[in-house]
Amino acid sequence: MKQIYFLTPFPDVVNAVVSESILGRAEKKEFVKFYTKNLFDFSDPPHHRIDDYPFGGGAGMVLKPEPVFRAINEVVEELPAVSKPRVVFPTPDGHILTHEMAINLSKSDSIIFINGHYKGIDQRIRDELVTDEISIGDYVLTGGELPSLVILDAVIRLIPGVLNSYESAETDSFSHALLDCPHYTRPESYKGLESPSVLLSGNHKEIEDWKNNRRQEKTRDRRPDLWEKYKKIEDGKKSYE
Ligand code: ADE
Repeated sequence: MKQIYFLTPFPDVVNAVVSESILGRAEKKEFVKFYTKNLFDFSDPPHHRIDDYPFGGGAGMVLKPEPVFRAINEVVEELPAVSKPRVVFPTPDGHILTHEMAINLSKSDSIIFINGHYKGIDQRIRDELVTDEISIGDYVLTGGELPSLVILDAVIRLIPGVLNSYESAETDSFSHALLDCPHYTRPESYKGLESPSVLLSGNHKEIEDWKNNRRQEKTRDRRPDLWEKYKKIEDGKKSYE
């Protein structure tokens, strides 16, 4: 069973999400176990501060090293001695999250997310403890909880058995070189809006061709970067034929 820890000043935010939906189901099915550690529990009395002013000046506060080092020590003591936890720090200056990174993280038996709510965290935490600095996109959120949960969601759904077959991760956009195609379900006609008749034709070859054409069109329109990659892969295949 994977052990997932969140070090955060707002454990309620994390608990509200991980107890619901597919994450909650993954825990009930014992694929994962979630733990939250409140960073304030690792701060020093009497003021219990977890942030402080930046050396050298500048706007915003910085997450102090002591609460994070102490919390990580406690987590490491709770984990089996053989466990080599990945320590993830979500940050806008990290590497952009990709499907490959999610696959890679899904292979780890323990992950610790460090969630800051400040201008930044003390660099010594990043230098000494963090193994993965990950951004979920080129925009800035107010804290690390939501990006951690985004990363976690992308990872947990890849664990074999977590998704039902109808939710299968295999045909997602990004598990292929192309974006996903449009999907339709009953009713066949809704308020005069028709489903493509080819999908109801029973002709598997035509259905596959239709899906593939839609995937190609969407990828070409929306993601020229992925389209270029796809064309290179296809050209490579052709040169072996
Ligand atoms: N924290 C704040 N903004 C973020 C982002 N875009 N990605 C990851 N962590 C963040």
